[in-house]
Amino acid sequence: MRPAILVAALASSLAHGHPQSNITNWAEEIWDDIQETITCAGCQGLLGTLKIVAKLGENTLTNVLTDVCIISGVVDPDVCEGFIAAEGTAAHYVLSNLKIGSRTADAFCAHVVGLCDYPAVQPFNLTFPVASSNATRPPPSGQQPIRVAHISDTHVDHGYTPGSNAHCSKPICCRSYTPEDAPGNTSSPCGLWGDAHCDPPVRLEDNMMAAIREQDPAFAIFTGDIVAHDMWLVNQSSVTYDLHSTNDNLGSLGCPVFAALGNHDTHPVNLFPSTDVPASHNPQWVYDTLASDWSTLIPSSSPVRTTPYGSYSTLHPNGHLRIISYNSIFYYKYNFYVFEEPLSPDPSHQLQWLITELQAAESAHERVWLVAHIPTGGPDTLHDYSHAFDAIINRYAATIAALFNGHTHTDNFQLSYSDYAEPTADSATAIAYIAPSMAPTSGPPAFRIYDIDPVTFAVLDYTMYIANITASLAAANSQPNWTKYYSAKEAYGAKLTPPVTDPAVELTPAFWHRVTEKMEEDVAEFDAYWERTTRGYNVTECVGDCAVEEICGLRAGDAQHRCSPPGGGLGLRKRDGSGAALTEARPARPECDDGGFLRVFGEAVRRVPDLQGYIRRRAEVHAKSRG
Ligand SMILES: *[C@@H]1O[C@H](CO)[C@@H](O)[C@H](O)[C@H]1NC(C)=O
Ligand SMILES: *[C@@H]1O[C@H](CO)[C@@H](O)[C@H](O)[C@H]1NC(C)=O
Ligand SMILES: *[C@@H]1O[C@H](CO)[C@@H](O)[C@H](O)[C@H]1NC(C)=O
Ligand SMILES: *[C@@H]1O[C@H](CO)[C@@H](O)[C@H](O)[C@H]1NC(C)=O
Ligand SMILES: *[C@@H]1O[C@H](CO)[C@@H](O)[C@H](O)[C@H]1NC(C)=O
Ligand SMILES: *[C@@H]1O[C@H](CO)[C@@H](O)[C@H](O)[C@H]1NC(C)=O
Ligand SMILES: *[C@@H]1O[C@H](CO)[C@@H](O)[C@H](O)[C@H]1NC(C)=O
Ligand SMILES: *[C@@H]1O[C@H](CO)[C@@H](O)[C@H](O)[C@H]1NC(C)=O
Repeated sequence: MRPAILVAALASSLAHGHPQSNITNWAEEIWDDIQETITCAGCQGLLGTLKIVAKLGENTLTNVLTDVCIISGVVDPDVCEGFIAAEGTAAHYVLSNLKIGSRTADAFCAHVVGLCDYPAVQPFNLTFPVASSNATRPPPSGQQPIRVAHISDTHVDHGYTPGSNAHCSKPICCRSYTPEDAPGNTSSPCGLWGDAHCDPPVRLEDNMMAAIREQDPAFAIFTGDIVAHDMWLVNQSSVTYDLHSTNDNLGSLGCPVFAALGNHDTHPVNLFPSTDVPASHNPQWVYDTLASDWSTLIPSSSPVRTTPYGSYSTLHPNGHLRIISYNSIFYYKYNFYVFEEPLSPDPSHQLQWLITELQAAESAHERVWLVAHIPTGGPDTLHDYSHAFDAIINRYAATIAALFNGHTHTDNFQLSYSDYAEPTADSATAIAYIAPSMAPTSGPPAFRIYDIDPVTFAVLDYTMYIANITASLAAANSQPNWTKYYSAKEAYGAKLTPPVTDPAVELTPAFWHRVTEKMEEDVAEFDAYWERTTRGYNVTECVGDCAVEEICGLRAGDAQHRCSPPGGGLGLRKRDGSGAALTEARPARPECDDGGFLRVFGEAVRRVPDLQGYIRRRAEVHAKSRG
């Protein structure tokens, strides 16, 4: 029965004097029925309707999607219009080609809408030039470590206006969107150095670069996301300006900088089609702009091998460390083009390129750092790609000293295993260091300094630095103070049995596995980790399933082994393991909104009753008005 019919039946049964005790049964049935309309099949039906609308033309589709976005009330109407103007072409391309009921459609309904189970991983036939290796991780050299800075997610907002409204209705604030938001007109003015509801001003980036210069790093890595979150307002020229600005600022560090592409570092946001998509969709201008900026950050003495799509492989000047920076957005669920029909086994053949580079490094006895924006074991990477990538990591585990990522804005790490059925210190094969953001929306602005073995390039320790920008508001003319927040060996190593505090010892994958075991044993250690993820900002309660899921996520370099339900933060959890119930999967956390239209769409499915009927009616109106 449809919910409306059920409600009518309930009313009539009450009118006929059915005993009160049966109302509970009815309520339960209605609840189940409502959920049935919000199901995997329901999602496929919705995509079928959108595909029909796409056939009516790109204009009709974009008009309808704009209506859907506005009626959902997730973001303001002007934000909706900006999103669709930017992403309409991609939506039209993808929906026109989509086959309803296909793995692609299932992947969409799982990752974007959270209504289908993740399709089972389809293993990609990886061919390794050399099938296996007997290499092992080299022991530390014992030589004096070098310092390496890790910066991520700067998101500088060149429109940041001190004194404007910090509590506006847009995804980011601290701009005079309306006269009421202007300085002098608001009771919640933004400070000089930033605010938790806003992307930061360029003066914070200048200040942070100065603090990093004082650390005298040998080199730096930057894991992407330069552009601010005003995705509905930006365009090619403003994004180009932003890219040049932050890359110039990275150049001011006075040391080599190895950077990676972020999902925000283009326009329209997130959209990086593979080579299977017609070239007219390709943001070649971004790849060219970044390649040109990066060539000034990488020492001219370092030989660089580049791809045409934002990846490169280069040797650190001392000749023994290979840094491979790759385009992780090819595997990202909010990259509309990822939902190709059929799903590409290896978008733009980048995985095969990675294998070639890793094999060359192994054969040359180099060590490798893999640098990218999005951690591939996260909830927002398609499982096929996460699995294939993880298989590559496992094959070259002895050569890869570590992986470095950003994107989450929080302070995390991620482990890979040779055997996910038995995650142990012995089966832990790789560690990804996920650095928090400079953008202060999920905690105080932060950067990391690693202590690195100058021979093996293994990570020996790291120290997090943060600045209290709230304090600097109070004293108008004072500068933020970048202070040590914690170091890995003090905060984690000292708590292990036996403790690992010797500065000469590597933080191996086994070390980080033991850290996760400690968190399982000792709630206080988990809580301390959890508080550090947001640098003490807005710390939510995370106990029971939340803690289990978090630790499980730290151990899921292959994302199919995560324990959280489909949809990431969308909050659909299996009520009893069999059906989806509308309960929150995790406590809400401060989170950066970077999904553009797809994120809004995922929420619209849940918020708008009979969305499919609404889409049909709007399509009729728009199709008629055009012809
Ligand atoms: C409750 O409703 C069911 C039908 O759904 C009926 O068989 C049953 O007799 C009712 N129980 C009572 C106590 O009336
Ligand atoms: C993978 O390789 C095997 C052996 O070469 C082959 O039988 C199989 O068809 C391949 N699968 C795909 C999806 O290409
Ligand atoms: C690894 O070591 C074993 C035993 O020493 C040897 O038989 C094998 O050929 C080696 N494999 C490689 C890839 O070097
Ligand atoms: C403050 O708001 C009023 C009323 O909307 C408007 O007239 C005025 O121009 C605003 N002030 C500024 C500085 O924008
Ligand atoms: C591009 O965006 C910037 C920032 O939003 C704006 O100032 C500029 O007018 C825009 N340019 C074009 C050509 O639309
Ligand atoms: C930041 O500074 C403000 C103002 O001095 C103070 O109230 C707050 O506790 C500080 N926050 C942290 C995390 O130290
Ligand atoms: C930074 O530290 C200096 C010296 O300790 C102090 O004078 C200044 O007020 C601090 N600034 C902020 C914003 O806390
Ligand atoms: C803090 O977290 C809560 C959820 O626990 C959220 O509702 C609130 O918006 C957050 N506050 C800020 C300032 O991010």
